[in-house]
Amino acid sequence: MNPERTDYIPRLLKCPNRSFFLFGPRGVGKSTMLRQVLPEALHLDLLDASLYLELSRDPHRLEAIIGHRPRGAWIVLDEIQKAPGLLDEVHRLMESRRWRFALCGSSARKLRRGGANLLAGRAVTVNLEGFSAGELGNKFDLSTSLDWGMLPFVQEDQEQAAEILSAYLNTYLKEEIREEGLVRRVPPFVRFLSLAGQFNGQMVNLQNIAREAGISRSTVDTYFSILMDTLLGHFLPAWRPGLKVREAAHPKFYWFDPGVARAAAGWLRDPADRVWLGAALETLVYHELRVYNEVSRKLRPLFFYRTPAGVEVDFIIETARRQWDSPPHVVAVEVKRAERWERVWEKHLRSLIENPGLIIDRLIGVYCGSRIYEFDNLTVFPLEDFVTALFAGEIF
Ligand SMILES: Nc1ncnc2c1ncn2[C@@H]1O[C@H](COP(=O)(O)OP(=O)(O)OP(=O)(O)O)[C@@H](O)[C@H]1O
Ligand SMILES: [Mg+2]
Repeated sequence: MNPERTDYIPRLLKCPNRSFFLFGPRGVGKSTMLRQVLPEALHLDLLDASLYLELSRDPHRLEAIIGHRPRGAWIVLDEIQKAPGLLDEVHRLMESRRWRFALCGSSARKLRRGGANLLAGRAVTVNLEGFSAGELGNKFDLSTSLDWGMLPFVQEDQEQAAEILSAYLNTYLKEEIREEGLVRRVPPFVRFLSLAGQFNGQMVNLQNIAREAGISRSTVDTYFSILMDTLLGHFLPAWRPGLKVREAAHPKFYWFDPGVARAAAGWLRDPADRVWLGAALETLVYHELRVYNEVSRKLRPLFFYRTPAGVEVDFIIETARRQWDSPPHVVAVEVKRAERWERVWEKHLRSLIENPGLIIDRLIGVYCGSRIYEFDNLTVFPLEDFVTALFAGEIF
């Protein structure tokens, strides 16, 4: 790719100034970003078959390929998950030649499984996601993004979104899964994918999914861990405010992107039902929360909340941990896919105030309308304004 491209959309993620791993799902713009922000680096791509073969046969060749470069010079090793064995050599060169490495890949799974030590903490890890609404600025369109998601390919060519997403799933998922030998048989995995797509944003009952997909529970477990390790999905845990251990609610599973979730569900050409559409907006909000957590390095734990009495809140952000002598601080966010805000939706958020073991920083509603409201102690934001406030550091 031409480093001087004029259509490059700057990313909010800043690369560290020492060696780092850059992970992120397929197609979110990792390689493009590294070309843009490290134009002077030597870029080595392990997708290049001859380079891959040469370095797998003899990792020491890496030093000769890098050649005479001064201390501090940057080397990008793209698709590092293909050659976990190279990390020992990278480690050595970091120490002996003082070169800096940007190690880029779509899965830490293979690295870990290949016995790689992830450089024993000598390199930091940063994560890239699809575009944030904060990066797209006035190019961001809520309804398109809810329908098709935030992948750069998709945002670039919205007319072709359905074809692109379907190809994305085929190429990046099934082939990667097949080639990397992550699963033994593909058909059950494909059945699982479609269920996981349909259940986007719901509490995960492994038993039910196992039954519906006709596979064992432990296989479902493995499949979910593949989705997580390839960064395609995340489990959002249930939040438990009390210290008492009570019955743990199942976590919710969210895909990293609403468009990819829709493709997985097999609903690219069909309208989805209301529950699923609501979950698509939650997926987008969760995505923005993760991006903000990452670029701000605040890394606050995120949860959802549901009590047996039926109180439900979409996101709880723990802004200060519970200490033995002080309660946790939280920001609570309720998301509604509607153009008009109904005040009854505030009930569950407001019921948190009655919880004595808790300090509430902010109560927030997010919806698809165009007006911001301040109802005593509760702010309601249109999604775009929520994102602006989030990246301005006003939410947490
Ligand atoms: N910041 C950006 N601005 C504009 N377009 C972008 C940007 N980032 C990525 N793209 C577009 O998205 C496509 C995919 O990006 P890229 O190949 O960098 O993703 P990747 O994360 O490296 O994917 P993979 O995991 O498959 O290697 C690129 O071809 C590019 O056209
Ligand atoms: Mg790449």
